[in-house]
Amino acid sequence: MDELVVLKLGGGLITEKSELCTLKPGVINKLAKLISKLTGSGYRIILVHGAGSFGHLKAKKWNLHEGYIEGFKPDDNDEFSKQSEVVESVRNDMMLLNERVVNSLQSFGIQTKSFPPHEWATGVGRNFSGNISIFENNDEYIPVTFGDVVNCNDGTVFGILSGDDICYRIATEMGANHMIFAMGGAPGLMTKPPSMPDSKLIRIWSGDMEFDGEHVSNIDVTGGIYLKLDCAKLIALEVPNVWIVDGEQPTRILEAILSGDTIGTKIIT
Ligand code: IPE
Repeated sequence: MDELVVLKLGGGLITEKSELCTLKPGVINKLAKLISKLTGSGYRIILVHGAGSFGHLKAKKWNLHEGYIEGFKPDDNDEFSKQSEVVESVRNDMMLLNERVVNSLQSFGIQTKSFPPHEWATGVGRNFSGNISIFENNDEYIPVTFGDVVNCNDGTVFGILSGDDICYRIATEMGANHMIFAMGGAPGLMTKPPSMPDSKLIRIWSGDMEFDGEHVSNIDVTGGIYLKLDCAKLIALEVPNVWIVDGEQPTRILEAILSGDTIGTKIIT
């Protein structure tokens, strides 16, 4: 068996999204254990993680998602004096988050190799430039990458490349068998914002079903659930088993992969 699984760990799953650079170590460890089970069962894995509070908060405050703006300053002061310093700072924060994820995997005996996007990718959105063949799986390690601040050649100078767009490229170009978006705070795609009491899980989503998503635009500089769904429906055209599941319940990730059935949202075309 050498089926390929692309697993995206959402930033809201592995970090406390509203508290700057705060991890959820217990969740990260549970997920690392799950990944060790999958590799032990012979699955090849490519891991992509999001940013959560290691990326969105500073990026939003300094408008990094809109690219270089001459003389830009936020309304309230912090330790930075210009956007280029924040670009460096967010890249460093992302490297730190990546190190914590990778350390947890290593504690379960998993070898990894990290590929920070600011070193291999240019441009944002699904059509970013970058050589996806660096993820060609190798029996010795799990390749790991993440959402990042990347350089752009279109005059914006820099921008935010989401892990969801990276998943689209990896899953479609590398012929993945499974694409699992693990997120926090909900069992899958919901009919209404998950905080509403009458919100219900959508078990199967085909791209034309209505839903009322919650996009926390004061925190999120990528597209939240909308970007995830855009990517997921395009991935489902080529990848047979595409899911959005609650990553705080790792057994659901396992079930989705092993049996193609679990509590979560299966994305179909
Ligand atoms: C965002 O990446 C990257 C930065 C803000 C630097 P993602 O779009 O993959 O992150 P999450 O999953 O929403 O946190």
